[in-house]
Amino acid sequence: MTQDELKQAVARAAIDYVVDGEIIGVGTGSTANFFIDELAKIKDRIKGTVASSEATAARLRGHGIPVFDLNEVESIAVYIDGADEIMEQGAMIKGGGAALTREKIVASVSKQFVCIADGSKLVNTLGKFPLPVEVIPMARAAVMRRLAALGGQPRLRTKAGSIDPFITDNGGEIIDVAGLSIADPKALETEINGIVGVIAVGLFALSGANVCLLGMADGVKTLS
Ligand code: A5P
Repeated sequence: MTQDELKQAVARAAIDYVVDGEIIGVGTGSTANFFIDELAKIKDRIKGTVASSEATAARLRGHGIPVFDLNEVESIAVYIDGADEIMEQGAMIKGGGAALTREKIVASVSKQFVCIADGSKLVNTLGKFPLPVEVIPMARAAVMRRLAALGGQPRLRTKAGSIDPFITDNGGEIIDVAGLSIADPKALETEINGIVGVIAVGLFALSGANVCLLGMADGVKTLS
């Protein structure tokens, strides 16, 4: 099976976690996009969605699926999203698609987080994938110094083919931190959250996934 076929398989499996008549939180990235395409097939069963990025909102609307502002909804039954790395216990690195802050917000108000990923994302230790950190632009250099002091190699994410900073949906910038071997994900998430100028860090450990659907060659494996 190709990596895309594995992503499609977990996207299909995630439909079992959709709650009829409710609001569904929807993540960002290629795996989430496959999920959106599956959700479109059963869109009449749900009340609507909350999107974790402008790109996801556009794809949902393109399918005719209602997208609500988070401020308009009282609760989200389930949040479904991909990951860049995930541990068996549910701790993740996310933000390769730059949507980490909204992903964290939507996940935090959802009753359940279902992570969908191809099996290559499963790791014993987080940190091989550079850790994304969204920052207020004026704090960029100061935050990069603090991240370097933690043992990482911080690098400003730039627009494709340009030296200009990549700008997120929130007007923030992304620092990708390579070279971290994250022995204690919760402690590191707490420490980076405490750096002034950080909007959010792409470590989801203090509150990780409740269920993970992993696409493997021999089928979808469920971790919970
Ligand atoms: C988006 O900001 C990320 O958190 C994605 O969930 C993550 O990058 C996974 O993306 P893919 O599904 O494209 O691998």
